[in-house]
Amino acid sequence: MIIVSCSQGKHLAKKVANKIKKPYSELTVKKFPDNEIYLKFNTNVKNKKVMLVQSFYGDINDLITEVLFAADTAKDLKAKSIALVAPYFPYLRQDKRFKPGEAVSLKVIADIIDKFFDEIYIIDPHLHRERTLSHIFKIKAHKLSACKEIADYIKKKIKNPIIIGPDWESYKWAGKVAIYCRCMSYILKKERVSARKVKISLNKKVNLKEKNIVIVDDIISTGHTILQAAKSLRSLGVKNITAICVHGIFSENALQKLKKANINVIATNTIPSSKSKIDISSVISERLR
Ligand code: R5P
Repeated sequence: MIIVSCSQGKHLAKKVANKIKKPYSELTVKKFPDNEIYLKFNTNVKNKKVMLVQSFYGDINDLITEVLFAADTAKDLKAKSIALVAPYFPYLRQDKRFKPGEAVSLKVIADIIDKFFDEIYIIDPHLHRERTLSHIFKIKAHKLSACKEIADYIKKKIKNPIIIGPDWESYKWAGKVAIYCRCMSYILKKERVSARKVKISLNKKVNLKEKNIVIVDDIISTGHTILQAAKSLRSLGVKNITAICVHGIFSENALQKLKKANINVIATNTIPSSKSKIDISSVISERLR
């Protein structure tokens, strides 16, 4: 096996290779003046199981092109098999045709990945209507989770936490983290008005005043979900709010907005940022061992 980092996998790939004591190499990836991609392997992959590590944030569409070029090249260079290790994998939220004529992005991307790879590993994929990765991919698909690492962080850093899931889908993360932390959890009710607008409320009557609230979700993108959840919690008298996510996309000045709302934000390093205080390299290395 060889761990090969694509352009946005370096922060994890090297750590993983060290942990499992496997050889490590980085792709050379450049852009031509017209934006075409240049890609080169810097190691011999012949007869090797190649693990391409790429996290999809920023110019995700370029990054997809890059992994397809890399997989095809590895195959051409006679690699034994090719796996994609994607700490964060995109396009999982558009899993159905919400309006006539829309692309079902999840299906499109899964079909492409199936053609180029033998296996895929994803940390906390956003599975909604499609319950498991085997409903999405035809290749062997491994679901990994950062919940234990998030719980370990909470246990170390936050006294008497109460875990809040901002919507029913978040029970998968909030509920699991609460079990690991052995503390209470509540799930809020979210109505999505548009891509940038959500309404959130708590159905139950619970006294959350003076508690250390930890909102746990898989993704923070624009931050609207967390902001609305915090607004509804503040109306119940809550003061201390920490929001923890697996994947900190933080688009459209999300971090500034969350800071202004006095929310302490923490993320894992599936997507590296100043908020990545939880390292999940061992989640990957344990699975690849
Ligand atoms: C959606 O259901 C996800 O679990 C997240 O709640 C959502 O992606 C967060 O997006 P935003 O930060 O833009 O509200």
